[in-house]
Amino acid sequence: MNTEEETKHETSSSSNGVDSTTANTGEADKKRESSSRDVNSPASAPFGGRILVDESAVFEQNAWDHAAWGEEQVQHAQKEIARQSLNPVPTELVEMYHAEAAENWNKFYAKNENKFFKDRHWLRIEFPELFQMIEADAGEKNVMEIGCGAGNTMFPMLIESKNPKLFVYACDFSSTAVDVVKNNPEYDAKRGKAFVWDLAGDDIPPEVEPESMDVLVLIFVLSALHPDKWENAMNNLYKLLKPGGLIVFRDYGRYDMAQLRFKKNRLLSDNFYVRGDGTRVYFFESDEIVKLFGSKFTIEQNAVDRRLIVNRLRKVKMYRVWLQGKFRKPLAGGTPGAPSATTVVTSGDNEEPDVDVDNSLSLDTPADSPKPA
Ligand SMILES: C[S@@+](CC[C@H](N)C(=O)[O-])C[C@H]1O[C@@H](n2cnc3c(N)ncnc32)[C@H](O)[C@@H]1O
Repeated sequence: MNTEEETKHETSSSSNGVDSTTANTGEADKKRESSSRDVNSPASAPFGGRILVDESAVFEQNAWDHAAWGEEQVQHAQKEIARQSLNPVPTELVEMYHAEAAENWNKFYAKNENKFFKDRHWLRIEFPELFQMIEADAGEKNVMEIGCGAGNTMFPMLIESKNPKLFVYACDFSSTAVDVVKNNPEYDAKRGKAFVWDLAGDDIPPEVEPESMDVLVLIFVLSALHPDKWENAMNNLYKLLKPGGLIVFRDYGRYDMAQLRFKKNRLLSDNFYVRGDGTRVYFFESDEIVKLFGSKFTIEQNAVDRRLIVNRLRKVKMYRVWLQGKFRKPLAGGTPGAPSATTVVTSGDNEEPDVDVDNSLSLDTPADSPKPA
């Protein structure tokens, strides 16, 4: 099987609603600690559990954290981007894709239903703040999962919660996704509420009070918005959060394998693509994230998670890149920003991956590994 086929195999398990294939992965490969690395931390800072030290050992396990990028990889990424820009989405179709975004997500959920649900054990590793909300004595807490899809954060929280005063909101601009959440047997209208809302719209939803949320969850959602709408989204997030409240963020990073695999007629604008099913996806740089969130929030984490996924049988390497962040709304009178918001260079890293696209949604997790070869 060639490189392209290999990659399709890897993402197709994701597009079926399974983030990846931990079940088939050897225990030694499993991730047990955060592999997200603050962009300002020195290259030697300890993080992640699976570091590739000896390149000749690369095919000895299925996944490596903090995959280093060489000049060759950077050049490959740039070549792929240049190739894509020769054949962007035809101008007459661009507006149609933007106009039909919600409808295309509806179709996605109609097709995938709750197969898209995945209990991500990495949530506990990367975002322990979420799980502080569910402790018995945490007190009155409101959490909101935005662009909730099938409720991949809502349900693990509700299921595990020992906090009688926790309330979890879940919203999405796909009404079909909201139906999927409401039809989940764990949905409990006394402990949570799912509703349709457009994060890119002009105001916060009527279902919630301004400044009432302790934690906002933004996982693989901002990338689905048109870049012209990011500012609206920031304003809404700010209005929703209590002073001192936290946003937990994870999304696609620039030159992730999924970006470089896009073929002809998929590029909408710089780093913004439409998949074969009409859903859109942007690939972020750390400095864009700092600019966006840093104007309103204090940046507590600004991290990159680079993963090298390996098919041992076929000797194929695949590079994934995700960004992760934690952004806190300042207390009344406080100012946003943080020292970590000023520098945005991943120490020791360049950028880049490999391969070709199948246009399917690849919902990627920090913790999971591919099927062993
Ligand atoms: C890639 S999926 C991620 C779903 C979920 N957060 C997860 O991680 O499993 C992106 C989700 O964002 C939703 N979405 C896209 N644009 C949105 C918007 N403007 N407002 C609210 N939700 C949106 C889509 O309907 C879809 O459910």
